[in-house]
Amino acid sequence: MSSFSRIAGTGSALPERKISNDELAAELAARGVQTSDDWIVSRTGIRSRHFAEAGTTSVDLGEQAARRALESAGLQPADIDLIIVATSTPDMIFPSNAALIQGRLGVAGAAAFDMQAVCAGFVYALAVADQFVRSGMAHHALVIGAEVFSHILDFSDRTTCVLFGDGAGAVVLSASEQPGVLACALHADGRQAGILCTPGRVSGGAVTGHPFLRMDGQAVFKQAVHVLEDVAREALARAGRTPADVDWMVPHQANIRIMTHTAKKLGIPVDKVVVTVDQHGNTSAASIPLALDTAVRAGQIQRGDTLLFEAVGGGLTWGAALVDY
Ligand code: UT7
Repeated sequence: MSSFSRIAGTGSALPERKISNDELAAELAARGVQTSDDWIVSRTGIRSRHFAEAGTTSVDLGEQAARRALESAGLQPADIDLIIVATSTPDMIFPSNAALIQGRLGVAGAAAFDMQAVCAGFVYALAVADQFVRSGMAHHALVIGAEVFSHILDFSDRTTCVLFGDGAGAVVLSASEQPGVLACALHADGRQAGILCTPGRVSGGAVTGHPFLRMDGQAVFKQAVHVLEDVAREALARAGRTPADVDWMVPHQANIRIMTHTAKKLGIPVDKVVVTVDQHGNTSAASIPLALDTAVRAGQIQRGDTLLFEAVGGGLTWGAALVDY
C-alpha cells in the first residue's frame, strides 16, 4: 500500500503531417464539402490538426508517447507493472493496444488492458491506475491515451470531420508518499449514447452499420457545459480544495468555447487554462496527456503545481481529476 500515486513523467507523440484549416478546407472543397478557416476558428478555436500517414496507427503513436514518458520518469520498460491505454481507435479488435504496446516495449509480465471511455478515457484510465497504485497492486503504471480519429471520420460530413486530429500522450504514475493524484470523479449516462457514437460493428468478418463518427454537436455542447463544472467541483470537494487552489486547468481539448466557459463558471482565470486545441484539434482520449506533456515541456507547468483535468465524451462519459504535479 502506498499513500499516493504521482505523475513521475510525461510524454507525447504527434504524426508529422500537420494540416491547417485552409488546407483541410481546400481538400474538402475538392470533394464538394464547404467549410472555412473562419467558421472552424470562431466555432471551435481549432487552427490545425495532425493526421496520421497511411499505415501509422494508435499503437505507433502510443508507443512513442510511452517511451518519452518513461525517459522523463527515468524508468525502463521493465519497471512498469501496469499498462492502461485509453483509446477508441485501437489497432485490432483484440489484443488490446496495451498488450501490443507492451510487446513493442519488449517486456512481459505487467497487467495490460485498454480503457474505452472515448474522450473521457484518459481521466477514467488515470483514476483506475491510481486505485491500482494506491492499493499496492502496481508500483509504476503507464497510462496512455492514443488515437487516430482520422480513421473514423466521414470526410463528407463537415459538422464532424473538421474537429478531430490524431496523437498520443502518456504519463508514468508511480507509488509515492508525496501527494499526487488527490481525487477523481467519474460518471456516465448511457441513455445519451446516441448523441456521440461510431455505431458500426464487426460481424462475419465485415463492418456492418455506420463505421464513422456521428455527433449531435449542439446536444453534446449543452451537456458538456453542464456536467464539466459539476464534476470538477466534485473532484475539488473530494480533495478538500477549491478552484482558487488550481494552478493549471488541463481540460479535454474539444472546443475553446467549452473550455473557457467551464473555467469562468468555476472562477478559474482563463489564462490558467492549458490550450492546445488550436494546434491539435480534438484528439479524444489523447488530448489531456498531450496537452499536459506540451505544457510541461514548454515550462508552463512546474513541479508542485495543482492541476485540474476534466473531460466529457461519448457514452456519455465524463470525469475530473485533481492532481498535485
Ligand atoms: O470530444 C467529445 C466532446 N465533443 C464536444 O465537446 C463537441 C461539442 N460541440 C461543439 O463543439 C459544437 O457544437 C460544434 C463545434 C460541433 C458546432 O458548433 P455550433 O456553434 O454548435 O454550430 P452548429 O452545429 O449550430 O452549426 C451552425 C451552422 C449550421 O448552419 P445553419 O444550419 O445555421 O445554416 C451548420 O450547418 O454552421 C454550419 N456548419 C458549418 N459551416 C461551415 C457546421 N459545420 C460547419 C463547417 N463549416 N465545418
